[in-house]
Amino acid sequence: MDLAYLAEWANLLIRWLHLIAGIAWIGTSFYFIGLDNQLDPPRDGNPRVKGEQWSIHGGGFYHKQKYAVAPAVLPEKLHWFKWEAYWTWISGFSLFVLIYWANASTYLVDPAVLDMPPWLAVLLSAVMLVGGWVVYDLLCRSKFGEDETKLSVAMVALLVVTAFVACHVFSGRGAFLQVGAMTGTIMVANVAMVIIPGQRKMVAAMQAGREPDPKYGRWGKQRSVHNTYLTLPVLFLMISPHYPMTWSHDWNWVILLAVALAGALVRQYFVSRQLGRNPLVLPAAATAVVVGLMFALRPAPNPALAGIEVPPIAEVHAIAAARCATCHAARPTFEGIAAAPKGVMLETPQQIRRWAASMRQQIETEAMPPGNLTELTTEERTKLLAWIAAGAPAQ
Ligand code: HEC
Repeated sequence: MDLAYLAEWANLLIRWLHLIAGIAWIGTSFYFIGLDNQLDPPRDGNPRVKGEQWSIHGGGFYHKQKYAVAPAVLPEKLHWFKWEAYWTWISGFSLFVLIYWANASTYLVDPAVLDMPPWLAVLLSAVMLVGGWVVYDLLCRSKFGEDETKLSVAMVALLVVTAFVACHVFSGRGAFLQVGAMTGTIMVANVAMVIIPGQRKMVAAMQAGREPDPKYGRWGKQRSVHNTYLTLPVLFLMISPHYPMTWSHDWNWVILLAVALAGALVRQYFVSRQLGRNPLVLPAAATAVVVGLMFALRPAPNPALAGIEVPPIAEVHAIAAARCATCHAARPTFEGIAAAPKGVMLETPQQIRRWAASMRQQIETEAMPPGNLTELTTEERTKLLAWIAAGAPAQ
């Protein structure tokens, strides 16, 4: 078994794990934010209880109580939530390394954006991954960060700068994943470096017979709220590789920010609903942003295609053989590609016609060939598009 084939399996299994862990983590996070927002005043008179909720799920009744700081006595058994977050990061980072770092020349570098050796791209990616967390964490801990409004403005500014830099350093696709990975890292680091250590200190204080310091609860809650706003944007960034119309554009960093904004608005709406409000302006604004993007990014009629003679299939076949079929073949010859990517084979005229519609999007947005590794020329690109626009004729 060769390495590229094993890498395909590693990709599948780690991605599977990443989804499972991510669902467990974000599901729990949504649940607890929702619970917190929907607590009723306690009825049984325990002065330490801040709020409670009754619910029914899976055929059973549940009664949950939240303590203002902590119960009088530490319960014997305490359930912690951390491995969901940790495994999401471990699997996500592994995937990022396996795909984006191991194939940096395909996925991370685009010479049309910035021509740099793959090792430099990986180094920059790693520095930004760590740097993003360090800057964010310092901001939150600083005097400046004590004012929630100022902190929010600073965080938005940080996201804008990050998106701008990433999109001017990496390939569009790589940039979106880089920003997603950085944001995801911040979210997990919030759990690992702030929320869990704070909870440990609270438990330790109780074990020592002291009242826990409420500041740890406040800090944890602050980071947990930040995570809420980041969740939807991160999920978009993680699925964005499938949608080249979002990242292949010259203004891709603005598109990234616009979608992130729409995601944050939707999340804000859900939180408001949980608090009993119904600010319809939030989903309306999110919809306006998305519809605006759809309109702004609509494929324009390609002026380069006007007056171009539709090439015969034999010529299309020859171009695909030279520029695409090194990877898109039953037995790819391109180093590091084990099987036809996404099952797309472009070896015979029949196969090329079958995939014509998906080819158009990939060629038009210059998503394919990745990083133009096989040096498809502008003339060839136009020819392929003219052939597809003419309805991919068989002659
Ligand atoms: C260096 C290898 C390589 C070359 C050359 C290449 N591709 Fe791809 N192609 C890939 C990879 C890898 C993917 C899967 C991308 C992903 O993971 O989303 C892909 C995916 C695709 C897809 C499916 C996209 C989707 O998400 O459904 C199409 C269509 C496609 N390529 C067309 C082409 C065409 C047309 C050419 C030639 C002009 C070409 N490719 C050249 C590696 C290559």
